[in-house]
Amino acid sequence: MPDRPIEQLLERDSWKSFGAVSTPPAIVQLMLELAEMESWQGLSILEPGAGFCEFLQRIQALHPNNHFAGIELNPEIFQIAASSYKSFQLIPADFLLWDSRQKFDLVIGNPPYGIIGDKSHYPIHGLEQRKKTYQNIFQTWRGKYNIYGAFIEKAVRLLKPRGKLVFIVPATFMLLDDFSRLRQFLAEQGRTRIYYLGPGVFEKKQVSTAILVLDKGGKGIELFQRDASGRIRKCFAREKYDGGIIRFESSDTLAFEKGKIPLGQIFFIRFAARSPEIKKHPLAATRPGPGLVPVLTGSSLHPGWIDYDNTRSGIFFPLARASELRKFYGQRHIVVGHTKGGKVVAAIDERCYPWREEMHLVPKKPGLNLEAVVGYLNSSELQAYMKNLYREITPHLTITQLKLLPLPQNLAGDF
Ligand SMILES: C[S@@+](CC[C@H](N)C(=O)[O-])C[C@H]1O[C@@H](n2cnc3c(N)ncnc32)[C@H](O)[C@@H]1O
Repeated sequence: MPDRPIEQLLERDSWKSFGAVSTPPAIVQLMLELAEMESWQGLSILEPGAGFCEFLQRIQALHPNNHFAGIELNPEIFQIAASSYKSFQLIPADFLLWDSRQKFDLVIGNPPYGIIGDKSHYPIHGLEQRKKTYQNIFQTWRGKYNIYGAFIEKAVRLLKPRGKLVFIVPATFMLLDDFSRLRQFLAEQGRTRIYYLGPGVFEKKQVSTAILVLDKGGKGIELFQRDASGRIRKCFAREKYDGGIIRFESSDTLAFEKGKIPLGQIFFIRFAARSPEIKKHPLAATRPGPGLVPVLTGSSLHPGWIDYDNTRSGIFFPLARASELRKFYGQRHIVVGHTKGGKVVAAIDERCYPWREEMHLVPKKPGLNLEAVVGYLNSSELQAYMKNLYREITPHLTITQLKLLPLPQNLAGDF
């Protein structure tokens, strides 16, 4: 049996490019309990992305009368696992491309996390060559996606009719648009239970996690969280679920929303022009010059003010022609931060600068009091509401969250 977790036993580059991290024993134990198996006898159990088989080992120690299978792609990790656990059916293969007729009562584990892409930008570069193939075969793939989403889809497809999936994954699938097809798929396939754990589960990693349980063939959704003493508490249970975003809705959040209007009805909400697009523009420069201003990034945005002097983009653009990048750059509008640790940070761009980052709120009708809207967006009462509703699901504030953000009627003009 390996005496250390994967991340200590192998070269960092070897395990990291496949997203390998060992699951802490307490989490393995919790997940076995949350599986709520009727019996632990005669089951076929699969741990995809098996690593050192943390789950299979624990289940075998407690309930030996089952069939144990694992799949591991990284050859070094596979060698160690296969020579350590001879009674398991261990397969050296890519789980996402694994062509199997075997079906399972329980698929359990901790899939790799990360966006697949080139080494300079993305964590999962060991699989870059296969990305197109994955995109073609996974119904839930959307946008940049994340390898854990594909693992979930594949695992659900390998379940027997009343089988169970139990995975620990990043909590982002609850909220981000890239996972809308995955949420829809989960809603169609069974009853979803989510146990939100937040950050701090994996040592030295910031990722906010949740344990996802899918009871195949069921319907509806349940959301749970851990309270300060570590006890699991139910937030809500619904008998119908349509695949929408999953938030910590409560009587408090509903009371706050009462009588308010979603921000997306009052403002168009747009992303800034991206860096590659700006760099390619014939008017962009890499040095200051007459009529040129720096292209702004999120580091210039503060609650209620914009620092036009200390900028980090290293790109310059003619102020008078900023609207050629995005029409709305040419008008006074509200800028809201995208990566401010989940906080809402807003200010008015009075000087109509070009931007390379952040979200931009353009009024659908004239005559709004933008100062008052910014004051409200930065207020402590709104921050408390957002924190209550979204916890630390993601460090980003998304356009979807902004569109739904409740705006008091007196700030919404003659809506
Ligand atoms: C987060 S680790 C989990 C390891 C172990 N199951 C645990 O919970 O401690 C994910 C594992 O999946 C493996 N892996 C990554 N991509 C894979 C793929 N496409 N097919 C099979 N295994 C893969 C990695 O090498 C790594 O060992």
